[in-house]
Amino acid sequence: MAKKITVIGAGNVGGCAALRMAQDNLGDIMLIDVVSGLARGKACDLEDARALVQTPYSITGSADIRDLKDSDIIVVTAGLARKPGMTREDLLKKNAEILKGICEQITVLAPQAVVIIVTNPLDVMTRYALRITGFKPNRLFGMGVSLDASRFANLISLKTGVPVTQIQACVIASHGEAMLPMPRFTLVNGKPLAELLPQAEIDELIKRTVERGKEIVSFLGTGSAFVAPSAAIAELVRAIVRDQSATIGVSTLLCGEYGVNDVCAGVPCLINKNGIGKIIQLTLNTQEAQQFKTSCESIRALGGLIG
Ligand code: NAI
Ligand code: 2OP
Repeated sequence: MAKKITVIGAGNVGGCAALRMAQDNLGDIMLIDVVSGLARGKACDLEDARALVQTPYSITGSADIRDLKDSDIIVVTAGLARKPGMTREDLLKKNAEILKGICEQITVLAPQAVVIIVTNPLDVMTRYALRITGFKPNRLFGMGVSLDASRFANLISLKTGVPVTQIQACVIASHGEAMLPMPRFTLVNGKPLAELLPQAEIDELIKRTVERGKEIVSFLGTGSAFVAPSAAIAELVRAIVRDQSATIGVSTLLCGEYGVNDVCAGVPCLINKNGIGKIIQLTLNTQEAQQFKTSCESIRALGGLIG
C-alpha cells in the first residue's frame, strides 16, 4: 500500500519538498497549511504535473490539521522563515508555539508516524517536538546537517574542480552558527579533505559553509533557502520509504553518544523504514570532541529559552 506522506507547512520548503517527493514516486502526498487555500492551490498545481513527472500517487491539499490522520511519514516545515538580519535562533519562540499545536495533533492522530522536523531553530525544535509527542527518538528527528553537508560539498567542488558527485561531505552538531564541517571525515575522491588543502583554505570553506544560509537570505531579500532544503527532505523520505539504511546526518537525541546527554544535535545515522536504525559514532579527536560538546551546549542554552 502507498505510504501517506504529510507535509505540514506548504510554504517554500514544504511546496518544493512535495514536488520532489512526487517526482521520486514516494507515495501519496498530503499538504497542509494554516493559510486557507494555500495548500489546496499548491496541491492542485502539483496534481496537474503528475502526468508530466509520471507519478500515479495522489497529491491533496488541506487547511485542516486533522487531515494528517494516519500518516506514515510527516515532514514539519510549518513556521516562520528567516528574514534578512534575523538568525535562526530569533525564530525560536514563535516557531515553538506553532510546533506545539502541530505535535499535539500528531500524537493523537498519527501515533505510528516517522516525523521529520525542519522548522528552525532545528535542533531545539526537534528536542521540543520529542518532548511534546513523547515519541521514541528513532521515529522523530530533524533535517539540518545533511543540507549543510551538501553545501560544504558544493563549495569544495567549486574550489577544487572535483565533481560534487565525488565528494562525501560531513557536517555534525548544530544546524546553526555552531555547526561543525568536518575536514577529516569529508572525502574528496576518497581522500580526506584535511589532507588535500592547506588549513587556511579549509578554514575559508568552513566559514562559507556556516554562512551559506545567511548568504542566500541576503540575496533573496525575502525568505530563506528552499531548493537544497527540499532535496535534503526528499533524501530522508526516500531512505525511509525504500528502507535504504542510508547514512545521513540528522539531528537526534543524544543519550551519551559523543559524550553528550539530552540534546538533539546532528550526527550521522543509518536511516531505514523505522526512521533511525542506528547512530553512527565517529571517532573524534580531542579538539573535535570539545568543539562538538561546545556546539551542543549552545543548543542546550538556546533550548532553555523556550521555558
Ligand atoms: P515559508 O514561510 O515559505 O512557509 C512556512 C509555512 O508554514 C507558511 O506557508 C505558513 O502559513 C505555514 N504555517 C505556519 N503555521 C502553521 C501551522 N500552525 N500549521 C500549518 N502551517 C503553518 O517558510 P519556508 O521557507 O518554507 O521555511 C519553513 C521553516 O523551515 C522555517 O522555520 C525555516 O527556517 C525552516 N528551514 C529549515 C531548514 C533546515 O535545514 N532545517 C532549511 C530551510 C528552512
Ligand atoms: C538554511 O540553512 C534557513 O536553515 C535554513 O538555509
